[in-house]
Amino acid sequence: MINVGILGYGTVGSGVFDILRENGKLIAGRAGEEISVKHVLDLRDFPGDSVESVLTHDFKDIEMDDDVQIVVETMGGLHPAYEFVKACLERGKSVCTSNKALVADFGPELIQLAKDRNASFLFEASVGGGIPIIRPLQSSLSPDEILEISGILNGTTNYILTEMKEKGADFDSVLKDAQALGYAEADPTADVEGHDACRKIAILTSLAYGKNVDFHEIYTEGITKITDRDIIYANRLGAKVKICGSSKKVGDGVCAMVAPVLIYPDNPLYSVDGVFNAILVRGNMVGDVMFYGQGAGKLATASAVVSDVIEAGKNIGTGVPVQWTAEKLSLVSFEESKSRFFVRTAGTKSDSESKVRDAFGDVEEVDAGFSDEYAFVTGEITEAAYEKAAGAVGTVINKIRIS
Ligand code: HSE
Repeated sequence: MINVGILGYGTVGSGVFDILRENGKLIAGRAGEEISVKHVLDLRDFPGDSVESVLTHDFKDIEMDDDVQIVVETMGGLHPAYEFVKACLERGKSVCTSNKALVADFGPELIQLAKDRNASFLFEASVGGGIPIIRPLQSSLSPDEILEISGILNGTTNYILTEMKEKGADFDSVLKDAQALGYAEADPTADVEGHDACRKIAILTSLAYGKNVDFHEIYTEGITKITDRDIIYANRLGAKVKICGSSKKVGDGVCAMVAPVLIYPDNPLYSVDGVFNAILVRGNMVGDVMFYGQGAGKLATASAVVSDVIEAGKNIGTGVPVQWTAEKLSLVSFEESKSRFFVRTAGTKSDSESKVRDAFGDVEEVDAGFSDEYAFVTGEITEAAYEKAAGAVGTVINKIRIS
């Protein structure tokens, strides 16, 4: 029998508890032995809940129990999650976590610590919730050089952008509705400013290249500047606005960013709407592969955690290898990254057209029926060239890159 300790009985932790009980027989068959929850740590009490018989308020009950071979960390946040996970790994226990902040900040250190103790540090649920992406990237796609990863990595913002398109509503009112429905947090900053997606693309890029990406170095732009007019222009272009995390091989380097982009129907990410997430991976041999599913939610995320528990359980005493070292992966300078840009400028067409063509060269005009502004699509230019031309025009209202 394998004994598990769970740190945190919130949404995901209670989902892990439920899945291990409900699918216990099936899981035992697949893991080769029974997997049983021995302790659940939470500061709260849960009167009448089936967790009561294994509930503890003291971390030491899990840390010091040598019968506990696998610890599930579903507390979230960096501290004390980091200290607890480190202490468990140091005692030779395997750890499975859904905590993307922990993985993005301390991934290489915790992976190395697990390796030194022949244990596992696994984090399938940290990116894309229930979508299997970490293990496929590490195993099924291991023959390939990864040329590009691009993903809709955040359900909250994908829901907001989908609603803005479908209802023609503005950002603030959709955000309020999303909060009322429980789809967006009371403090939505990490989602709407792209910080959540940034950590996720940093994790995927580190795994794809085996070296550490510092997420602070990834250019990150949220969706708070996207307006209902931008969506009308996108409709006119036959495109959708999506916020994507992407990383691309450019020569010997990798260019990564999180930003709203215009996506056309020929891109498989175009049809990913609502709270769903998807990750498109391009390998140099396999071509394009897309992973799609629920990026959040109790049972979807918990299912990914339990898949790690089973994997760790099958590898007790050896550990599951994860290729991600502390060596730094240097990112290509953002200024050199190239895109086509959709740009809106204030003022009438006659005020703007010649100034725009002087600064940007040949552009394609986009007419969505607004006489007080002039909008256009540029050719492929670098970020630095865009900034220079936009500065010369001086009246830019907004710009969105084209995927
Ligand atoms: N806030 C995240 C999202 C939850 O909206 O996708 C999963 O990481």
